[in-house]
Amino acid sequence: MPIAFDKATNAITLSTVSSTYQMQVDRFGNLLHLYYGRRTEGCMDYLLTYADRGFSPSPYDAADDRTYSLDALPLEYPCEGVGDFRSPVLSVRDGRGAFGCDLRYRGHEVVDGKYGLPGLPAAYGADESDGAQTLRIMLSDERLGLEVTLLYGVLPKIDVITRAAILQNVGGQTLAIEKAQSACLDFVSGDFDVLSFNGRHAKERTLRRSAVDHVSQVVSSRRGMSSHQYNPMMILCDTDATETSGRCWSMSLVYSGDFKGEVERGQYDQTRMQLGLSDERFSYPLAPGESLVAPEVIMTFSNDGLDRLSQNLHECIARHVCRGEYRDVPRPVVINSWEATYFDFTGADILSLARSAADLGIDMLVLDDGWFGARDDDSRALGDWRVNEAKLGSSLAEFVGRINALGLRFGLWFEPEMVNENSDLYREHPDWALAIPGKPPVLGRSQLVLDFSRADVRENVFEQVCSVLDQANVEYLKWDFNRSIADVYSATAKGQGAVLYDYVLGLYDFLERLIARYPHLLIEGCSGGGGRFDAGMLYYAPQIWCSDNTDAYERLSIQYGTSFGYPASAVCAHVSACPNELNGRVTPLETRAAVALAAGGFGYELDLRKLSEAERDEVREQVRLHREIDALVRQGRCHRLSDPLAEPVAAWSFVSADGASALVEAVVPLAEANAPTRCVRLRDLTPGSLYRDRSSGAVYPADALMDAGLPLPLEPGDYRSYVIRLERVK
Ligand code: GLA
Repeated sequence: MPIAFDKATNAITLSTVSSTYQMQVDRFGNLLHLYYGRRTEGCMDYLLTYADRGFSPSPYDAADDRTYSLDALPLEYPCEGVGDFRSPVLSVRDGRGAFGCDLRYRGHEVVDGKYGLPGLPAAYGADESDGAQTLRIMLSDERLGLEVTLLYGVLPKIDVITRAAILQNVGGQTLAIEKAQSACLDFVSGDFDVLSFNGRHAKERTLRRSAVDHVSQVVSSRRGMSSHQYNPMMILCDTDATETSGRCWSMSLVYSGDFKGEVERGQYDQTRMQLGLSDERFSYPLAPGESLVAPEVIMTFSNDGLDRLSQNLHECIARHVCRGEYRDVPRPVVINSWEATYFDFTGADILSLARSAADLGIDMLVLDDGWFGARDDDSRALGDWRVNEAKLGSSLAEFVGRINALGLRFGLWFEPEMVNENSDLYREHPDWALAIPGKPPVLGRSQLVLDFSRADVRENVFEQVCSVLDQANVEYLKWDFNRSIADVYSATAKGQGAVLYDYVLGLYDFLERLIARYPHLLIEGCSGGGGRFDAGMLYYAPQIWCSDNTDAYERLSIQYGTSFGYPASAVCAHVSACPNELNGRVTPLETRAAVALAAGGFGYELDLRKLSEAERDEVREQVRLHREIDALVRQGRCHRLSDPLAEPVAAWSFVSADGASALVEAVVPLAEANAPTRCVRLRDLTPGSLYRDRSSGAVYPADALMDAGLPLPLEPGDYRSYVIRLERVK
């Protein structure tokens, strides 16, 4: 059984195929964290040590025992005010405004299946064969009238344990929740590194590794979205952990708004890692009877390095977070109009782009920004989701009919959460935008953010979006979000510290209604590229535009960083024109395709009509190749074979579940004169077998490919790329 309780030791143990997680209810009813690591048996309370330590106080009920201090013990859900002075997971103020919360164990229950969360996305158990179980631990602080239910979901086969918490006010006073993290991991000792993924617009998820020290390290977003700047995902690992060795633990937040992740080495060299809601611009009033859900954190442990850790996360997100009919099937190859035409198009232009695409074997035309209201540039019309028939030259239904007649499917861009001051919607409802009365609002791309914490605002936009989707055969929707939230004030909020959280719940409510009404619609997430690339959005949109940066070279590190926490099936990558529109770099068409082919959402983002005949032939070949390798990319095991930030070759591979086929891709960014031999060492092939290169026919021993590696050709020219398809022949 994945979840077991031992009455003799009061230990609760969660087991997955390769990991064990254990906690214990101690004699005072405090919930201690004992262990999270490789699979083992027994009770790990031998790890607890007790000593009278100066300035580490004791709870009142342990007063005679000065060796008992919550400041020194590993805790499961540490609260502010219990004598633990590390960063707390929960901070609550009572009706008088005093801080302090003392949660004690009241009971627990185990049920089959994986829990869901009201109003929030959460991983789900796919079917009974998953063997998923849920543990609910009930804690309470009777003085406050606060009940906290800690939720644990175990997906044993993929070594995943999820956590979330539900806070409920069962007393008579309104409480203020000042901080509510979802998960905490305490280690009594050890030297660790922390891996985080930072960036900026057009440079998302750059891997950063640093030693955990007596300096608190924080990753967070205070932008109202998960952000380009930090991803809500972090990894803790042994200082010598590599792709294939060492212990590592990860936390990924299933949430799309402000978050905070902290790693702190305490005074006794203990390490605490926690992740959840940000406590900045947050103070949630909880009236009697109300509850607040701290969003889910997906955790996994690998005893075999980062590669294994990522496999677990890929499996979890691809099969237990992404939903809908596109979860497991090939996504359409798209031509997106954005970098082809920007705002400057007519219906005839788009139709001729579609004709060009149809001739190349592309599946779908996505009409990006500029098709609605008076949207001829990015300063106006957000909020006015009415088809600009004059620009298209027909109704949307006729227009899509023409696209479909060319053999292409059709998709449309929206940015539902936004409004321009220069729009009919804003002129009619200026109070619907988030803005602080009397303060001129901060503008981002000339736009304001609609108050999605309000049901009436959402309803208006929902009806507008539906009325467009109902007009024509729209099979794909790109959901964009192109600015950070700076001003937070909602006219109807129960407290201004609740607005950003309720905003995210409003967004999820909208998306849930949308997919319920259009179950066949493929939604692609986007936020100026990958500014909201998180497991929360992936619950609604199985693919996300990875970055506005479509340069093949810079995409190597963006997609590399993304791969630590997210499967290739969730990534969208398109081939764009050169010189690249953002950095002016020129890379071979072949290499732009090689990089984009490593994503589940493959396509083009350029004016296909400007390609030469030779380039068009290349594109036809790329689309054909995509169809052949697509299942391997979306469903195979992805391996990072090098670190493109540190090594002269960027290489990665996808291996089928049965090991029978492998796709190896490599890019050599800089050519060198008289260059040394560069060998790429492969992984995950079937030991003792032989593999044949499908292009050259060469046959290689699997063990040698994994040990000595595969030498790349010595060729001149920067940004050379190699796509090697191997099949097991013996
Ligand atoms: C964002 C997106 C782009 C494009 C534009 C349209 O920047 O990331 O792909 O859709 O908006 O305005």
